[in-house]
Amino acid sequence: MAQQVRGVVAAGRGEAVRIETVTVPDPGPGEAVVKVEACGVCHTDLHYRDGGISDEFPFLLGHEAAGTVESVGEGVTEVAPGDFVILNWRAVCGQCRSCRRGRPWYCFDTRNAGQRMTLADGTELTPALGIGAFAEKTLVAAGQCTKVDPAASPLAAGLLGCGVMAGLGAAVNTGGVSRGDSVAVIGCGGVGHAAVMGSRLAGAARTIAVDLDDRKLTTARRLGATHTVNSRERDAVAAIRELTGGSGADVVIEAVGRPETYRQAFHARDLAGTVVLVGVPTSEMTLELPLLDVFGRGGALKSSWYGDCLPSRDFPMLIDLYLQGRLDLDAFVTETIPPTDVEAAFARMHNGDVLRSVVVF
Ligand SMILES: NC(=O)c1ccc[n+]([C@@H]2O[C@H](COP(=O)([O-])OP(=O)(O)OC[C@H]3O[C@@H](n4cnc5c(N)ncnc54)[C@H](O)[C@@H]3O)[C@@H](O)[C@H]2O)c1
Ligand SMILES: [Zn+2]
Ligand SMILES: [Zn+2]
Repeated sequence: MAQQVRGVVAAGRGEAVRIETVTVPDPGPGEAVVKVEACGVCHTDLHYRDGGISDEFPFLLGHEAAGTVESVGEGVTEVAPGDFVILNWRAVCGQCRSCRRGRPWYCFDTRNAGQRMTLADGTELTPALGIGAFAEKTLVAAGQCTKVDPAASPLAAGLLGCGVMAGLGAAVNTGGVSRGDSVAVIGCGGVGHAAVMGSRLAGAARTIAVDLDDRKLTTARRLGATHTVNSRERDAVAAIRELTGGSGADVVIEAVGRPETYRQAFHARDLAGTVVLVGVPTSEMTLELPLLDVFGRGGALKSSWYGDCLPSRDFPMLIDLYLQGRLDLDAFVTETIPPTDVEAAFARMHNGDVLRSVVVF
């Protein structure tokens, strides 16, 4: 029988989010209903509320979550009721041209639930990133559930569902940071901090954190940055060059999503270095670069979606590292909040007061 739960809904462009009663259907073939335990507030939820992602209002927000599988539909074998899972927004299909070429992290046909959750009057909801986890329960494709060690706190585990995986993977998977590299991370919110952490994990010799806000730089240092630069006070490119013997960093990660910070990243990397764009730009932004430098400096200019992760490979491994005390996911959780506090949490995020507010149910 379909169930009624409370969920956080964005009804229209720029409108404050509201708690609504949401109808969650029973899982159909290939689907699962998950009891959400914790869900982080990500910048992308705010982008949805502001109409920056699509116009398919109303949205059921929330997509950075962990919880317990309550029921599964026909044919589901990968998870079972009672499993502790992290939800992912890239359930790979296994059949598209990218999956077939052995590159499933670029899957072009990722899976979501076929049925829709609705408001009490039957209006269909669009779940944020195909998840919709600011709700007591949510309906997803079974492939969106990745089973991990239940010893992990749901608060910490849920973070791997978006921002932390995106930043950590931007460094380790997309940027290919490895032992001895010099890395610069421009923009140290939740995503940038995770990139700093990933760089340390991968053995970077030097990790330079750049932000406009000293509070962010203090935490970045705690999470593994070897040097920090406040780019309000110093030119970021000159500072990164100076800290890398004049040459620039091997890998520069842009975690803001703006043309000016992308240009800094471009000019702050060493010859044959790599720039990774993980920050999400808006549709009106454009970029101008000297084409001769694009050619002459060589290397790679890449973008990173979800840290080029493969949830089934990366989530259990990162949870193991967390449980061993080698990946401080707890450091990202600034506060836990009830679902009624999401709108206020958006404001705190906008002001840079939090790394992550996590909704608990
Ligand atoms: N690619 C992906 O898969 C993916 C996933 C999640 C989030 N994101 C994107 O990553 C970006 C960062 O997300 P977040 O949650 O860390 O956001 P956030 O708002 O918490 O952090 C942004 C940080 O950038 C800093 N900043 C802003 N302007 C700057 C400038 N000019 N120079 C230096 N620092 C500057 C801010 O002070 C802040 O610390 C966003 O664009 C978000 O949409 C991408
Ligand atoms: Zn695929
Ligand atoms: Zn997100």
